[in-house]
Amino acid sequence: MVSPFDLDGQVALVIGAAPGGLGARAASALADHGATVVTADLADAERTVDVTDESSVADLVAGVVAEHGRLDVVVNAAGVMLRKAYDETSVEEFEHVVRVNLTGTWIVAREAGRVMAAQGHGRIVNLTTVYAERVGPVPESAYYASKAGVVNVTRALAAELGPRGVTVNCLAPGVFYPTKMTAALGAAPERLEWFANRTMLGRLGDPDRDFAGPLLLLASPASSYVTGQVLYVDGGWSAW
Ligand SMILES: NC(=O)c1ccc[n+]([C@@H]2O[C@H](COP(=O)([O-])OP(=O)(O)OC[C@H]3O[C@@H](n4cnc5c(N)ncnc54)[C@H](O)[C@@H]3O)[C@@H](O)[C@H]2O)c1
Repeated sequence: MVSPFDLDGQVALVIGAAPGGLGARAASALADHGATVVTADLADAERTVDVTDESSVADLVAGVVAEHGRLDVVVNAAGVMLRKAYDETSVEEFEHVVRVNLTGTWIVAREAGRVMAAQGHGRIVNLTTVYAERVGPVPESAYYASKAGVVNVTRALAAELGPRGVTVNCLAPGVFYPTKMTAALGAAPERLEWFANRTMLGRLGDPDRDFAGPLLLLASPASSYVTGQVLYVDGGWSAW
């Protein structure tokens, strides 16, 4: 029997896939399940891409299709965080975070969505956060705003692409430690403990152990009737 998680013959593109992050874990998980995987990031990946730049994303997607003939799965794990009080954040800083996290997600989904719609098949997985529909005690207004936007962009594109056989969903991680984004939390163990205590499981997310399963669900035939959804991968944090 073929596993519903089998990705044999499928082509996947993972953006934000430099070593050490959730994107790199996604790339490994997809390859382990049979997909041909192309990784991209600003640096340290097979391809270079800047998700804030339309032509950079268009070239990346066109290159993958030219080389592999199709594009079945896109994971957009590119993201930036800005930990700053609202009254110390410049408009330029705010807009940069929104540009990468929200506009970049939309650009990637638009470019991939066109290819997938023409094929009649595709899976787009966007990364939001446990803070998608709430905020935390740390001042990150640009990050919270951008990631809330990712949820509704996901739903909107799911509606537009659904009739063409393309699903669009979000993963909403709690705190996965360590990645490049969360490494700095190591300097504040009491904050890590606070995050762990917010969860029902009483621990932080382990990038090597806790991310691949939910990612594979949304990227594979196992989720053929799931679209426009947010899957919280947060140890129960959002369920209290
Ligand atoms: N680690 C966590 O606890 C956590 C929690 C919630 C959400 N997330 C989200 O998951 C995603 C991955 O986070 P991570 O923890 O692996 O962080 P990370 O910093 O390791 O990975 C993010 C990657 O995005 C890349 N990137 C940044 N700007 C880019 C751009 N303009 N174009 C292309 N790539 C760009 C970075 O180079 C980096 O490799 C992010 O969207 C993040 O917001 C992470």
